[in-house]
Amino acid sequence: MAIDPLAFMSTLEQRMEFTSEDKSILKLNAEWGLTIAPEMADHFYTYLGRDAEMNAILNQTEGRIHRLHQTFIRWFHEMFTGLDDWGNTYSQNRWRIGVVHVQIGIQSQHIVPAMAKVVHEVGKKLQSEGKPADLKEALSKICMIDLAFIEQSYIDVAASAVLKETGWSEALFRRLITHGASSM
Ligand code: HEM
Repeated sequence: MAIDPLAFMSTLEQRMEFTSEDKSILKLNAEWGLTIAPEMADHFYTYLGRDAEMNAILNQTEGRIHRLHQTFIRWFHEMFTGLDDWGNTYSQNRWRIGVVHVQIGIQSQHIVPAMAKVVHEVGKKLQSEGKPADLKEALSKICMIDLAFIEQSYIDVAASAVLKETGWSEALFRRLITHGASSM
């Protein structure tokens, strides 16, 4: 049931109306993105650290929180650079992020509020630094694309694991879900 990350990226670009103008303005502001990334990382991990369950995960292993700060800065900057113009490398990378979170056992319910925090903090920063509305829009779109990737990996990893374990076909699996849902 695994999706093709590049094809998914292309679908999301259309759905989010992520245009070449959006890409240009992000690239133009890549240096600025890198400059504010450490501050955004601080907001992000302070926010996650207020939740006891998340805090335990963040500090589970020696040096993890320090590593995560660096990881966040890289991730944040990549939204501006697009790595390979938001192509195959970018898509594979975004797909992988979701898979890593599933592997660690972070529940998907934490992902949307976490991304909302990023959008909120970056919005405040854009405003205080007098950045244009176009940049805010482009950033919101790419955050939502990255969010859609992570959320989709959760579904796909779970489905793939069930299919592998049971030997069911994808059609049967989907039927079971819709059948189960209709009785709720
Ligand atoms: C907007 C949502 C999030 C984004 C964009 C994000 C981004 C990332 C990235 C880019 C990685 C590295 C993945 C890799 O190794 O390829 C990562 C790993 C990780 N993330 Fe997140 N994350 C998000 C939400 C969360 C939440 C809610 C938690 C909860 C505690 C979390 C905890 C972790 C942990 C523990 C790792 C592994 C760190 C290690 O290497 O030990 N993340 N994240």
